Amino acid sequence: MIFEMFRPVHRWIWCDAERRAHKLLRFGETETDGGRDLVRASETTPDSLLRRLYLEHAIDEHRHGVMFRRRGNEILRSLAPGSNSSFQADWLAPSGHGVDDLRVDEEPDEALLAFLHLSEKNAADRFSVYRDVLENDIPTRAIFEEILRDEVFHMNYTLTQLARVSPQRHGRTLWYERLRRIWKSYLRMAAALGAVMGGFILTVQYFVILPPFAWLAKRAERRESPGWAPVSPQPNRPLQRQY
Ligand SMILES: [Fe+2]
Ligand SMILES: [Fe+2]
Repeated sequence: MIFEMFRPVHRWIWCDAERRAHKLLRFGETETDGGRDLVRASETTPDSLLRRLYLEHAIDEHRHGVMFRRRGNEILRSLAPGSNSSFQADWLAPSGHGVDDLRVDEEPDEALLAFLHLSEKNAADRFSVYRDVLENDIPTRAIFEEILRDEVFHMNYTLTQLARVSPQRHGRTLWYERLRRIWKSYLRMAAALGAVMGGFILTVQYFVILPPFAWLAKRAERRESPGWAPVSPQPNRPLQRQY
């Protein structure tokens, strides 16, 4: 829902070809990282069905990574040399799975499935908006379309498996994971706001507090006599120290 509200912003973000290419390359890294985490999850789970599903999921994420990287490189190769778009707007249009890594080794299957379900839902919501705003880049749009189908499958199987491994508590586990995500989002926003406020306060200090000290230093400098200043002789100075 919230992604829909920012549709015009996403249209603007994705309209620049070089920015689009770099975003696709970063999305590729995120997908491949997710695939690696899922391979680890398949190694650690005691559940044989989940082991197979995690492995299939990992293969999907690896394939998504390859597709994104390949398309990103194609766009980069098609660009005229010298084109440059440095602003990537990552905080506005992040990769679909969110910025949080999986906590594979620390979490039981129940928590991992809840985490995966919400991540995949997030990915499906984002990718459907990205697909819709890419009317002028049909090949990239087709990639999002194909990946979106996989993400919807991932979103559904994780919920089904969560209900299987935790029939009584799966609703509570999902809510706990949702609250944890809200808390992490709040921390990220607070850190970003803190950085902005820090920059603002330092700028104010530079222009308001520093000038009087600079003026005092200049005034003191004018009172100093130029050149070397003679030191008063101290014939009886003790010789135990250098200065
Ligand atoms: Fe994916
Ligand atoms: Fe996925």
